[in-house]
Amino acid sequence: MVFDEKLLDCISQARHVVVFTGAGVSAESGIPTFRDAQTGLWTEYDAATLASPEGFRADPALVWGWYEWRRMKVLQAKPNPAHLTIAELAEKVPRLTLVTQNVDDLHERAGSDNPIHLHGCLHRPRCFACAKPFDYPPGIPEEPEGGRRLEPPRCVHCGGYIRPGVVWFGESLPEEAWNAAQQAAQHCDLLFSIGTSSLVWPAAQLPETAARNGAAIVQINPEPTALDRTARFNLRGKAGDILPALLEAL
Ligand code: OAD
Repeated sequence: MVFDEKLLDCISQARHVVVFTGAGVSAESGIPTFRDAQTGLWTEYDAATLASPEGFRADPALVWGWYEWRRMKVLQAKPNPAHLTIAELAEKVPRLTLVTQNVDDLHERAGSDNPIHLHGCLHRPRCFACAKPFDYPPGIPEEPEGGRRLEPPRCVHCGGYIRPGVVWFGESLPEEAWNAAQQAAQHCDLLFSIGTSSLVWPAAQLPETAARNGAAIVQINPEPTALDRTARFNLRGKAGDILPALLEAL
């Protein structure tokens, strides 16, 4: 794979790199994305039913079962070369902030320290009523088939239903995570946008903010996206192919 010398210079000279990832970075680990034709979760399942507080109120068992099915898929998955290269890149640049929209823990398992999870985490459920965190009981978890109902556990503090620890449509992003991500986007000199359709706001605002503040935007995605016009470098292909080759070329 041959890369533009200007891109390689840009990366070598960067003092603060932001890596902003979406579902595409975990696709090669076997975790389905949301909007890819045929394979995307939102082509098969209804986002309003499964990803909103109203949906959970209407049918907690349907929603909890679906997220537990996804959590099991993540527990069975392994980080892929894209996750591993991002962790390695952090050792090679003066400063790297990893911001992810993903609710899996594959960045952490690849060795990235404290990624900023803008959309929460599948492994950190909490009470729908009092928001206290929930600890999964020890042992092998139940494994519902895709879409199979599963009654949510009850909160030990208030008896409320436990809900998935992810951000749903209509909810605000976790404040601390969002502030930290915005700060990083404002002050970085290079931002990689990897495996995201750049359609979900406010997260999709981060590369635009970085570009407005003078950062170079590098996008890695097999498909065109809403960010193509803003990105200085559009690298078309799979993150698991491009990232290791890019690191080697540096
Ligand atoms: P999408 O499903 O919208 O987009 C996934 C992107 O990954 C697409 O642009 C694909 O072309 C690209 N892609 C697929 N395979 C790839 C690969 N191997 N390497 C690189 N790119 C690849 O997922 P997101 O942009 O992450 O929100 O979606 C944003 C948010 O919408 C998610 O966080 C989720 C969803 O509703 C919440 O859960 C709150």
